[in-house]
Amino acid sequence: MLFSKKKIAILISDKGTGTNLQAIIDGVIFKKINAKIISVISDTKDAFGLKRAKKYKLPVKIVPKKEDLLPTLKKLNPDYICLAGWKQIILEQVLDNFPNRILNTHPGLIPDTLDGVVKNPDGTNAIWNKGKMTDKAIQNFINSKSTYAGCTNHFLSHEFDFGPVLGRCFEKIKKGDTVKSLYRRLKVKENKLYVDVLVRLCKKDGQKVLVVDGGGRGAALVDKYAQSEKVFRILAVPGNDLMQINTKKEVKIFPNLKTTDIYEILEICKKEKIDLVDVAQDNAVEAGLVDTLMLNGIPVIGPISSAGQIEWDKAWARKFMGKYSIPAPKYQIFYTEKEGKEYVKNLPAIKCFVKASGLAEGKGAIPANNKEEAINAIKQMSKFGRSGDTYLLEEWLKGEEFSAFALCDGENFQIVGYAQDHKRVFDQDLGPNTGGMGCVSNPLIVDKSIKKQVEEIFRKTVNGLKDEGRPYMGVLYLGVMVVKGKVLCLEFNARWGDPEAQVIIPGVKNDFIEIADAIIYGKIKNLKLKMDKQVRVALTATAKGYPVDYSDVKGKKIYGIENALRTGVKIYGAGIKKVNSNYVVAGGRVFHLVAEGKDILEARHKAYKAMKLINIEGNNLHYRTDIGWRDLERFKK
Ligand code: AMP
Ligand code: GLY
Repeated sequence: MLFSKKKIAILISDKGTGTNLQAIIDGVIFKKINAKIISVISDTKDAFGLKRAKKYKLPVKIVPKKEDLLPTLKKLNPDYICLAGWKQIILEQVLDNFPNRILNTHPGLIPDTLDGVVKNPDGTNAIWNKGKMTDKAIQNFINSKSTYAGCTNHFLSHEFDFGPVLGRCFEKIKKGDTVKSLYRRLKVKENKLYVDVLVRLCKKDGQKVLVVDGGGRGAALVDKYAQSEKVFRILAVPGNDLMQINTKKEVKIFPNLKTTDIYEILEICKKEKIDLVDVAQDNAVEAGLVDTLMLNGIPVIGPISSAGQIEWDKAWARKFMGKYSIPAPKYQIFYTEKEGKEYVKNLPAIKCFVKASGLAEGKGAIPANNKEEAINAIKQMSKFGRSGDTYLLEEWLKGEEFSAFALCDGENFQIVGYAQDHKRVFDQDLGPNTGGMGCVSNPLIVDKSIKKQVEEIFRKTVNGLKDEGRPYMGVLYLGVMVVKGKVLCLEFNARWGDPEAQVIIPGVKNDFIEIADAIIYGKIKNLKLKMDKQVRVALTATAKGYPVDYSDVKGKKIYGIENALRTGVKIYGAGIKKVNSNYVVAGGRVFHLVAEGKDILEARHKAYKAMKLINIEGNNLHYRTDIGWRDLERFKK
C-alpha cells in the first residue's frame, strides 16, 4: 500500500510537563494518528516527559548538544518532528534538511503572511506574541486586554515564530484570569490542536506529491492530485506559475530545475519526504529518473528507462512492433545521411515521413511529398543532434489520427481514455506541425471495432515489454492512424500526451492516489475506473508566430485569465510566468483552456466563449477556431 504509517520523533526538554507529548502518545494509542513514534528526544536526562516515554517503552535519545541534533535526526529520518517543549535553538541546517517537517506550537496567533493579522472569533485583532515564550506570552494576552488568548501549530521556518500555519485555537479570557488559570484552559485546546494537526498530516491529507513536468499536462496532474483528500501539498519540477490557479492547496514549483536534473529531484524527494512522484515528461523517462527514484525507494509513476525506450528510440520501437505483430507502417532505418539519400535516389518515387529516432520535442517527424523533399528532410536530421543520428523513412499513412491512453502496472492495463489532437498550427489543418493545438476527449471515431483493435495493440505491447524484461509501469500513450477502418500504430509515448492529458484527466473520477497505488503495486486488474460522461475540448493558446518565431511576443502581458475562469472552464498554464501581478508570455504554447459539456456542441461553445475573454498585449493571442471539427461533423449527421 502507498502511504503506510508516518514516523514521528518528539523533541522535549525539562521545560514543561510533557502534556503535548502525552496528547500525541494518546493520539497514536487510540489510532487517531496514523503514525509510529520512533523516538522521544530530550536534551537532558531530567526531562519529566521521559518518564512518560519510558512508561510506554518508547525509544529515547538524549542529545545535549544542539550540533548533534542533525546527525541524530538524519539517522532516524522521521516524516515529522514534533517540538513539544524543546528549548534549544533549532539550527539552520536542521531546518534546511527537514523543510515543512518540523512542527511547533506557539502561544500566540501567527498570521499566514508576515504582514497579516489573525482575527479573534469576535472579530478583534488577535495577538501574535512573536518571540515571547510561554508565560510571557500568556501575560501579554492579559496585559493587552485582548478578548482571546490562543495558540498556533505551525511548521518551523527560518523566520522566528513563523512558518506555514497548520492550525489555530482560541480561548476566551475571563475576568480575573491569571497566567496560570488562563494557560490551564488554553493548554487543553493546545494539546487537542497538536493531535488534530498530526491526524491530518499523517492520515487523511498528509501526502506530498511531486509532479515532474512544466506544461499544461503537468498542470492537469497537479489539479487532479490537489483534488485528492489524501494530498496536502504538491510540488512540481519545473512547474509553472499558473499551476496554483485551480487549487487552494500549496503548489511549490522549482522553475530553475530541469526535468532531467535527476539528483536535484532525488534530493527534493528526500528532504521533503515526498510520498509519490509522477514523472510526466519524456526526457526524464529517457534520462532514467524513474529508475533512480525506484532504487531509492521512492514510490513513482512512470516507466523505467528501458521500458520508455518505446518512445525515446523510434527505431527500436518499430522493431519491437514487428516482433510482436503490432500493425504499423512499413519503414526503413538509416544510420548515416549518405545511406538514406542513396536509398531515396534509387527509388522511382517516394512519399514518406522522415523521422528522427530519438526525442525531438514533437518536431522530429517531417513529411516528404517527393524525392527532393525526402532528401531535404534527411539533411535536417542532423539538426536533432544525437536524436537524429538514427532516423527512419516511413510509409506515409493516409487516414484519421487519434490517441489512446492506458494505465499499466507491468502485467495488466486499463484504457483510461481517447483523444484527438490537432497538430497543425492553423485552421483546416494548415501550417506547420506543433506540439498540439487543441484536443477533444473520447472522439466519435472510436467505435466498438476500433476499441477492440486498440485493446489488442495494448495487450501485445504490455505483454511484449514484460517478455523483453522491461515491464511498463505508468501511462502508455498509443498514437494511431485509422486507415479504412484498420488501426495502425504511428507511435508510442511513455507518458500522457499534452494537451491530451488536459481533456482526459479531468474526467477521471477516481482519486489519483488510488490510481497511483494500483500502478505501483500491480493492482490495475482490480481497479474500478470511473469516468464521467462529459465531452471535453481543450484549446491551446499560443503566442502569435509560434511554432516558427514568436520572440517578440515573449514577455507580453496576458489579459482576462480570471474572467475566463469565472465561466467555469479550467485553464492549465504552459509557457506562462507571473511577473509582479501580471501573467506574461514565456513560451510558444502559453496555456490550454478546457471546457466540458454533455456533447461536443456544448463543450466547444463554452470553450470558445471563455477564450474570447482572453488576449495577449498587442492582440498577440493565437488559437485555432476549429478544434473538434471532425466530431462536430459526425455529431451533426
Ligand atoms: P511523431 O513525431 O511520431 O509524434 O509524429 C508526429 C506526427 O506526424 C503524427 O502525429 C502524425 O500526424 C504524423 N506522422 C508520423 N508518422 C506518420 C506516418 N507514418 N504516416 C502519416 N503520418 C505520420
Ligand atoms: N500531443 C502530442 C504529444 O503529447 O506527444
